[in-house]
Amino acid sequence: MQNKRVLLASRPSGWVSEANFRIEEAPLPQPAQGEVLVRNLWLSLDPYMRGRMSEAKSYVKGVELGEVMVGQTVGEVLESKHPTLKAGDKVLTQLGWQLYGTTKEAMRVPESRVPLSCYLGVLGMPGMTAYFGLKEIGQPKAGETVVVSAASGAVGSVVGQLAKIWGARAVGIAGGGEKCAYVKDELGFDVCVDYKGGNLAAALKEACAKGVDVYFDNVGGEILDAVLARTNLFGRVVVCGTISDYNSTDPYRVRNWRAILVNRLRVQGMIVFDWKERYGEALEQLAGYFGQGRLKYRESVLEGLENAPRGLIALLKGENFGKQLVKLA
Ligand SMILES: NC(=O)c1ccc[n+]([C@@H]2O[C@H](COP(=O)([O-])OP(=O)(O)OC[C@H]3O[C@@H](n4cnc5c(N)ncnc54)[C@H](OP(=O)(O)O)[C@@H]3O)[C@@H](O)[C@H]2O)c1
Repeated sequence: MQNKRVLLASRPSGWVSEANFRIEEAPLPQPAQGEVLVRNLWLSLDPYMRGRMSEAKSYVKGVELGEVMVGQTVGEVLESKHPTLKAGDKVLTQLGWQLYGTTKEAMRVPESRVPLSCYLGVLGMPGMTAYFGLKEIGQPKAGETVVVSAASGAVGSVVGQLAKIWGARAVGIAGGGEKCAYVKDELGFDVCVDYKGGNLAAALKEACAKGVDVYFDNVGGEILDAVLARTNLFGRVVVCGTISDYNSTDPYRVRNWRAILVNRLRVQGMIVFDWKERYGEALEQLAGYFGQGRLKYRESVLEGLENAPRGLIALLKGENFGKQLVKLA
């Protein structure tokens, strides 16, 4: 058996291209004492990976040239020298873009009827981001209006469904009629606005007749400005991501800053791992809603590690529809 892995070959300037990656074969790694050898089954592709390809200062250090691309995986333990994990266990790891890897840090995934890929999406890091960002920063009250961008995606889809479960009105923003129909008809949001459909300001005004109490911002850019213009007094803005800017060499400058003053908004950035001590709580809550059929999800699946670069590029262009994954085995 040979390992196969995707390395960062060069740093992109602007849009990522497949030339920024190199795929190589390598010998199968051997687990040291305390480690497991894992065969990765699913690789998660996430927008933050674009930041890790860059040298710019961020909340976590970037990937070095020649290193395996970072990423979360769900895999199966093939061999164990770990005190509590055994061969056959399914585990969540940070082994990145490769077929096999060794690690001390693997978290056992419970044996259940839940598909393993869900631990990278609705019950994984994106689900937890939605849970903590909305609950702790957004703090929606019953009857308030929660707006979320990238609403059909991994984080956004959970934000809107949690808003509904917690008694608020959920308004999505997504790109295109097909995504908007899914957000409204299948995820159960009250309305979804197509930001590619023309006059966003007018569409938001119509969708949010009583204004916006919570904006869960996944995208930044002009959409943020348009939502700021509709915010209510003492509204909350959860700054979760700025994907519209991740490939830009000239970052967007917010024009509607004054809305923060006039409406006494609370604008707060969030990084999911600030809540890592409480992941158990989030998993219990999300798994509960999931088991009751109240959290729906959708996945975009590519087959084969060699397609991971193409998948990340597509994700950053918004070509994914739901949680972007690569099936490795
Ligand atoms: N702070 C944290 O801890 C944390 C954790 C996880 C994720 N995030 C952030 O949350 C956001 C969503 O992540 P995700 O994993 O759930 O991805 P996702 O929503 O499943 O996929 C990304 C989506 O972003 C939208 N998009 C792409 N370019 C856009 C643009 N120029 N303008 C508007 N929308 C655009 C696309 O949807 P449309 O087709 O609808 O435009 C695309 O499908 C990202 O910004 C990510 O970095 C933050």
